[in-house]
Amino acid sequence: MKISSVVFALLTRALLGDWCLAINVTITPYPFTVAQEGQNITLSCVVSQRRRNAALPVVKWTFLPAGTDRPEDELLIARVNMRKARFYGNYTKSFTWPKLKLTVVKQGKIFDLVILNVSEGDRGLYMCRVQEFKKHQDRWKASSNCTAATELRVTVEWTLSGSSEVEDVESYFHPRKRRLLIPLWINSVKILHQVAAQHHQQEGLMVFCQRLQYTLQCLEQCFLAEGNGLPLDILHSDEYKALKAHLSHNSLSSWKLVEKFLEGKVWEQKVYNGEKYGAVTLLASYRRSDQRLRIEVLNAMNLLPMDSNGLSDPFVQLCLEPNHIFPEVEPRCTQIKNCDLNPLFDEAFEFLISLEQCQASGACLVVTVFDHDTLRTDDFEGEAFLGLKAIPGVAGQMEGNELSLHPDAVPAQIRLSLMHPKPKDDNILRLLESRRGEREAQAYAKKRRQREKQSQEGI
Ligand SMILES: *[C@@H]1O[C@H](CO)[C@@H](O)[C@H](O)[C@H]1NC(C)=O
Ligand SMILES: *[C@@H]1O[C@H](CO)[C@@H](O)[C@H](O)[C@H]1NC(C)=O
Ligand SMILES: *[C@@H]1O[C@H](CO)[C@@H](O)[C@H](O)[C@H]1NC(C)=O
Ligand SMILES: *[C@@H]1O[C@H](CO)[C@@H](O)[C@H](O)[C@H]1NC(C)=O
Ligand SMILES: *[C@@H]1O[C@H](CO)[C@@H](O)[C@H](O)[C@H]1NC(C)=O
Repeated sequence: MKISSVVFALLTRALLGDWCLAINVTITPYPFTVAQEGQNITLSCVVSQRRRNAALPVVKWTFLPAGTDRPEDELLIARVNMRKARFYGNYTKSFTWPKLKLTVVKQGKIFDLVILNVSEGDRGLYMCRVQEFKKHQDRWKASSNCTAATELRVTVEWTLSGSSEVEDVESYFHPRKRRLLIPLWINSVKILHQVAAQHHQQEGLMVFCQRLQYTLQCLEQCFLAEGNGLPLDILHSDEYKALKAHLSHNSLSSWKLVEKFLEGKVWEQKVYNGEKYGAVTLLASYRRSDQRLRIEVLNAMNLLPMDSNGLSDPFVQLCLEPNHIFPEVEPRCTQIKNCDLNPLFDEAFEFLISLEQCQASGACLVVTVFDHDTLRTDDFEGEAFLGLKAIPGVAGQMEGNELSLHPDAVPAQIRLSLMHPKPKDDNILRLLESRRGEREAQAYAKKRRQREKQSQEGI
């Protein structure tokens, strides 16, 4: 069994001079390399002279441990002088066995540093500092210098093998060891959150968030380790939940977002109390045999007066949404009832739509009451959302030919309170608005914003 985790290393600010005029120093691998704990790794410093000159290089390998970034924290590993003599520095001295080895592969040109048996403490920035010396009137004087750096990251791997396996398994699942995973998980979530927040462009955000969402899922599985890793209550931290919500919202297509918006409205309608803006009564049913949704608008009551005479001239508009599910279905309207706050309509409408359309997510009937105005645009009395799944005949599975045997559903009388939207209240609309490239998303958000302008909730 193998349980591996990644030790994150922050890229330390490189403390590099900018004097590489006459010489060119590079390190491979660059800009970082990842080693597994226990491995040997070789870093290679290549020095080349830009101009032919008689200068000789003095090469120093230095080390800046991960988590430090002050010049005084830099430790000398090893140095090769002009006469090829090698000296080891203060960092090398802290090891009791020969852990670091400097090899001159090609005099004056290639200087390899071998790090044996890599451990977590070896994480950090490795620098190759080259100082050129020139002979000037029989004395060597420092001329140009140049520095290159690379970062070593270390992967810690718990490999449980060999004779001590049983013991190791037990010690790994010892709570003390498992705790090691907690900061790693917290950090991973934090980093993903930062990455998600850094993406400011709306274009491509959806795909980007879908990928991050997948990454988060994989990471979670990894830390869960089939029940042997971290428990769910630790995995599902507040930051994890916030990130997950953010990603799942942003991962949705605009159509899905509109569906979510409408589902939210249907829910809002269900829990809405009071009839501050009046109500509408309908008789609704769906006949599977000929795919007809029948809506009878019975009456409206307690409407708000919109005209100066203290009355209104109401009519009811029926609209099937979302538009991508009902692209061909035009809104239908009742007749206008003049000067009446409790009008009786008794008008029936039929919509020819399939059962799949009715059962699609977000599918709903938007009932809007307007006060007709001959001179200005019609005033908004209120709106209501009826999820089609609630209509008799829609709910339940479709069972092929058996359908025709089912007796037609008995219409239900439904009373819907009229609502006004709360302006600037909805995250989904904000998200739709931000998708500038998408015309349909923009159009839908615009339509809802116009409705919000007519709302009395914001006043
Ligand atoms: C420095 O050397 C490396 C390889 O030795 C080479 O790829 C790179 O182009 C050189 N850079 C400059 C600025 O000469
Ligand atoms: C690392 O190098 C040492 C000395 O050369 C060698 O004995 C050892 O087997 C190497 N280890 C790995 C993992 O390659
Ligand atoms: C290590 O050696 C370098 C070079 O001799 C020196 O500048 C540095 O202060 C030393 N660091 C420590 C911690 O002794
Ligand atoms: C490798 O390093 C670890 C400590 O990091 C030490 O316990 C182990 O003995 C070392 N192995 C070898 C082969 O030097
Ligand atoms: C590198 O060269 C620059 C410019 O010649 C000089 O200012 C600087 O002190 C040199 N650095 C070292 C470490 O010799």
